[in-house]
Formats: sequence, structure tokens, C-alpha cells
Amino acid sequence: MSLRGWTRQLLRQVRGENPFGGDCPPTRVRLFGDGRPTTPVPLPWNYKEPIRIFEAFYSEADQEDGWGRHNRYLYAGGLPPVLVSRDPGIIRAIQAATGDKPGQFDRDTSPTAGIARATGEDSLLYANGSVWRRQKSLVAKPFSRSNLFQPHRFRGFERTFRATVAKRIDALRALQVATGETRTRVELEPEIKAIMLEMLVSNFFGGSVSYQALRERFVPALVYMIDHMVRDTVAPRAQAIARAFTGGNRVLRQHAADFEELTDIALSGRARGLGLWGEFESDAPDEALRSNIRVFLAGAMEATTSFASWAISHLSHHPEWQAKVYEEVREMEVYDPDDFTGSPDLNRVLEETLRLTPALYFLPRRATVDTTVETPDGRKMVIPEGTHIRLDVWHANRCEDFWGEAVTGYPADRFFPERWENIERRGIAAKDMLHFGFGHGPRFCPGRSLGLLEVGLVVGALVKIFKFDAVADETGVRAGVSTKPADGVVVDLELRSGTASS
Ligand code: HEM
Repeated sequence: MSLRGWTRQLLRQVRGENPFGGDCPPTRVRLFGDGRPTTPVPLPWNYKEPIRIFEAFYSEADQEDGWGRHNRYLYAGGLPPVLVSRDPGIIRAIQAATGDKPGQFDRDTSPTAGIARATGEDSLLYANGSVWRRQKSLVAKPFSRSNLFQPHRFRGFERTFRATVAKRIDALRALQVATGETRTRVELEPEIKAIMLEMLVSNFFGGSVSYQALRERFVPALVYMIDHMVRDTVAPRAQAIARAFTGGNRVLRQHAADFEELTDIALSGRARGLGLWGEFESDAPDEALRSNIRVFLAGAMEATTSFASWAISHLSHHPEWQAKVYEEVREMEVYDPDDFTGSPDLNRVLEETLRLTPALYFLPRRATVDTTVETPDGRKMVIPEGTHIRLDVWHANRCEDFWGEAVTGYPADRFFPERWENIERRGIAAKDMLHFGFGHGPRFCPGRSLGLLEVGLVVGALVKIFKFDAVADETGVRAGVSTKPADGVVVDLELRSGTASS
């Protein structure tokens, strides 16, 4: 920003001008103030608690009766405004207007700078404008619903995914039998991560890698790199200095090298058209695809692990829903994630999981010019050029005004899969109740069908073989690139009687 631009912003801030317009403008939060969970900006001491940072934006919001209750902005230091919204109408309008057309919003790259340094700037996730459009068209066909769901192709993936999940769940089962105990306490998140990565690398990309190498080398490498991406975004200089003094650079180099090796493995099936590569129609050199492959490996493992971990964690607190899902899957031999007619309760559990505990808890956007958005209920907001936008899906989905008893029949901040039945009964259309678990609009998740298939298989297979109970009364949240249950999904596992195999 030029000195002139900075001075102009600063003067407006000091004068207390609201840079937003329209009939539902956001209200301002102060940089410093009492009684808030933390400051409303990520700093080296609070960046590990991003959900509390968002909460800081809504302090005293209950006292407001206008739309400022759900739309807040920070305007300080001569910097452009930061808009935080938990208003589903605004979230939807901004997502719908994100893309490469003139005047549309970009995905804001400032909260993902560390991801770009580790995976490349030209990936589908990070890029904007024409680079994003080109990457999108490259992956559109192999990931498309119509491709994945052509019966023979879908069955092929489903069969290989199911075989992978069955092998891992059976190994867990054998372990349990070997202990001679009827109940075993297990932390499931590491198991889920390894299964998710195996399905992606071996089945989807047709790469050849042993389960042991995945579990012992590649999963730890990805976990390290994902943590590194967050730290490297918030405090890159401090992190670099800390690494120089602690020998961390050697560790980083080793994990980064393992990440590259895994990317090679995923690309190795391309020449023979294995897995997804059979559908990939492009003569782009392998080198041009590496950023996307890295993003798919790290991003997909992270998002599917988050989704499956939360679903299992919620079920571990709700034995009545475990029993309902068991009734659906006990006789099920094949599984079709979009044909939920055979498993409506599993569908409700997955939908409620993504609503209450979305993997991606906020979606970043940036206004490229002064932009007016219009919500489905006809409100308008004018967003000034340069505004950093945080679409706060986590708090939108837990807000009583939008998802609470009056609208859905159940409290917004609790796990009630029955809410979806109620919503149907009240005749509310699905398009009016978006929880944004896979996003919305042009930057909608291309991996939705694949992810649902993977998560449905893992959750269904686990319920089919085991009963599992939560160890703690309440499960907290850990948030980084995605959210996860804070305890790593620690449960007491018990084999269901008479279960032969998954
Ligand atoms: C099942 C768990 C998953 C969840 C909950 C999830 C969620 C999301 C969400 C919310 C977005 C939108 C981000 C935004 O609007 O800023 C997104 C985008 C994206 N997802 Fe997923 N995702 C999942 C699985 C996957 C898988 C399996 C892949 C690929 C193998 C994938 C690849 C991507 C990519 C590349 C984007 C960026 C698309 C773009 O910007 O055009 N996701 N995902």
C-alpha cells in the first residue's frame, strides 16, 4: 500500500468512519478491549486458538439487534478492514461472487502463505484469477461427480477403497482379539490418518507404497509439514530463527524430502494411467502438476481425517445413533455415498457432523474492488476494496439465530442428527439451509464426492465391527489448517459379537 493510501486509511480509522455501506453494515470491534477471550488478531501467543480469535469479534454482540450482531469488522493500524461474518446470507453471497471475473472476490492468500511456500503458489487451492481457472479445468473431469459416479468407475473405486478400509479395520480387530480383553482403549486419529492417506495414494492415484512406510514415514511427514505451514504463516521469521538454534532445519528438510517422495509416488501411476490418472486428459508435464498433488495429499488427508474423526467422536458420545447406523450398515455389502436411500441415518450423522464441526472452520476472501453483495433475503452490503474477509462458518453453524430450536427444533451448538429429519418435515429446502461444509459457489470443494465416499466407508466399517464409547464427557476442539477433536478420538473399543469381518 502506498504511503498516501495508508495515511488515508489511518485518518478514516481515527475519525471512526465505517468504510462499509448498504443496509446491513457490520459494526466495529476494537483492537484492545476488556472481557474478550483474546485479541481479535492472530499473534505468536494466541495463534493456536483461532476459534477464540473469532469469538473475540462477537464480544457484546448479543446486545445488538441489527445485522451487526453477526457481521463485525476490525479497522486499525492504517491497514485495510478485516470483516468477520457469521451471517449465512453474507457468507453465501460472498462465496457465490468469488472467482476470476472482473470485480469478483479472490480467495485471500494472507492466511495461507505458509501453505503456498510448502506446496507451491500455482495450486488450485492457493491461486486466484486465470491460474486458478486453468488448474480448475485440469482437475474438473477426473474429480467430477459424473466421472466418479459412472457406475463402473464408481464401483471400481468403491471396491478398492472398501478393501483398504476392511484390511485396516480387520487389523484393529485382530489386535483387539490378541489382547484377550473385551474393551481396549485406543486413540483412533492416527489410524484414520493412515487409512485416508492409503486410500488417496494407493487407490486414487494408483501409487505403490507399503502401509508401514505410510504409517511410519509419510503420515508423520505430512503432519509435521501441515503444522509447519501454520507456524510459517503466523510468524515466519521467529520460526526460522527458532529452527536455526534448535536443529529444526534438519528435521524440516527431512520431512520436506519425504513429502516430495510421496508426491513422486502419487505421480508415478500417471504414465500407466492407473487410478485417477486414467481420466486425466492433459499433456502438461509432471512438474506442472506437483503443486496440486501436494495440496491434494496434505489437504485431502487433513480434511477427510477431520471429518471422519469428528463423526466417530460424535458417535462415541451418542450410542443411540451408533445403534441406528449399525442397523443400516450391518447387512450392507456395497456403499454408494450419494444414494443415501439405504442409509439415511448415516447421512444425517455425516451432515450434522459437518454442520457442527466443519473441517474448514473459516473461508478467507479478499475484495479486489469496492463490491456490493446481495443476500438471498434481499439485504445489501458494500465491501470496500482491499477488505480481508473471514467467512466464519464455525460460528455461523452454531448460532442459535440460524440453526437453533426456533428454526430446526434443536439447540444449534449440540449434536442432533434428528434435526435434519425435522428440517425436512418443516418443508425447509436444502438450498435454504447451507452449512458450507464443502464451501459454495465457484470455489466449491472438487473433492466432495471422493471425500464423502472415503469418510462414509471408514465410519460405516468401524460401526459395523465395533461399539465404541467416548472416554471423556466432553470433547474439545483443536484448530489449525482444519479442526479436529482435541483428544485425538480416544475411545473404548468393544467388538460386536458375531462380527466376522468388515
Ligand atoms: C471430505 C472432506 C473434505 C472437506 C470437508 C472439504 C472441504 C472443503 C471446503 C469447505 C472447500 C472450500 C474452501 C473455500 O471456499 O475457500 C474446499 C476446497 C477444496 N478442496 Fe476440499 N474438502 C474435503 C475433501 C477434499 C478432497 C478429498 C480433495 C482432493 C483430493 C479436496 C480438494 C480441495 C481443493 C483443491 C479445494 C480448492 C478448490 C478451489 O479453490 O477451487 N478436498 N474443500
